[in-house]
Amino acid sequence: MAQVDAAAGTADLIDGKAFAAGLRERIAQEVAGLDFKPGLAVVLVGEDPASQVYVGSKGRQTVEAGMASFEHRLPEDTSEAAVLDLVARLNDDPEVDGILVQLPLPKQIDSTAVINAIDPAKDVDGFHVINAGRLATGQPAMVPCTPLGCLMLLKDRLGDLSGLRAVVLGRSNIVGKPMAQLLLGQNCTVTLAHSRTKDLPGECGRADILVAAVGRPEMVKGDWIKPGATVIDVGINRLPPSAPPGEPGGKGRLVGDVDFEEAAKVAGAITPVPGGVGPMTIACLLANTLVAACRRRGLPEPELL
Ligand code: GUN
Repeated sequence: MAQVDAAAGTADLIDGKAFAAGLRERIAQEVAGLDFKPGLAVVLVGEDPASQVYVGSKGRQTVEAGMASFEHRLPEDTSEAAVLDLVARLNDDPEVDGILVQLPLPKQIDSTAVINAIDPAKDVDGFHVINAGRLATGQPAMVPCTPLGCLMLLKDRLGDLSGLRAVVLGRSNIVGKPMAQLLLGQNCTVTLAHSRTKDLPGECGRADILVAAVGRPEMVKGDWIKPGATVIDVGINRLPPSAPPGEPGGKGRLVGDVDFEEAAKVAGAITPVPGGVGPMTIACLLANTLVAACRRRGLPEPELL
């Protein structure tokens, strides 16, 4: 495993980009062995630039894995009823194994209503309340992609996670809560910390595993981290530009929720931003689509973990 620059510290770099490439390769091999093509439908409402980029990458990687990609791009002023109608058609479409409605949705649309209209068996985001409930009660579920990717990186690095102290920073439905459930499922002692937690540095300092998912640039400092801990940084934050647009530095640097330079001097291993958790999310979406396709047909599930 690569080490961070010796002058900066001793932490190993957890290479999510390479792991994700390997996972996509394993998925493509599994797909090639099927006598049907798993299909993923992605719904994008509106013009959000970040969402456009994500949806483009999802479509490309779906096709590269040998699956069918169905993209539905709807105008910003689309009604909730029209989105619910599309979801109902995708639920009934036998060629569609996975449905992802890109978030955030425009304000006239209730995201919860849309997510809970998706057939739980096709809910490859794992956001439906049925899948959240299944995960929380230890039943087979579709698991949200980003925390699933974090868990894969942790198991690859640490093997058995039993008995380790894990602190998850951030309590979102998309990352923090499912991450805590997954770590509990691996027999970790889990603390779910958030903006109202008293003594955040103290809580983080007890963690063998620290997962930061708060969306606050470089919030976690080096002296918050237990020496030797494994640090997973879910944050992707763009700092304000340091130069005019078009010039070097004109786009603003991407940083995580962890102060990487400081943390790398203390942690045992750490994910970089970019190139850590980010690439794992789409790879896990493809994994979930393959799993959903197999489950729906009563086929054995591929071993991808
Ligand atoms: N927007 C940002 N990340 C995600 C994701 O993982 N799933 C969906 N549906 N929307 C997102």
